Amino acid sequence: TYVVTDNCIRCKYMDCVEVCPVDCFYEGENMLVINPNECIDCGVCEPECPAEAILPDTESGLEQWLELNTKYSAEWPNITVKGEAPADADEMKGVENKLEKFFS
Ligand code: SF4
Ligand code: F3S
Repeated sequence: TYVVTDNCIRCKYMDCVEVCPVDCFYEGENMLVINPNECIDCGVCEPECPAEAILPDTESGLEQWLELNTKYSAEWPNITVKGEAPADADEMKGVENKLEKFFS
């Protein structure tokens, strides 16, 4: 599966939802997550994200993100249409440790 990671937080560009063939993105206030049980591993969303927030969970160190995507995709609503990114999305791009700083 692919997972959404730190870089998405407060950037939330949503280009990813437009390309996913199985509509497996779920929307929180500050980020999106992927439902790992629905993702078919096609990989098309990865290069579409301007914040480089989407990664295959085969990369090392992504266990906490797999867990977070699994948990919140069960709670948050499905999103299939791109909305407006936050006004300061570009300023938030590349900021480190966004999970600790902004995720609530
Ligand atoms: Fe959707 Fe494919 Fe991305 Fe999985 S890898 S979330 S199926 S676009
Ligand atoms: Fe987030 Fe990138 Fe999608 S910033 S909303 S994963 S396009």
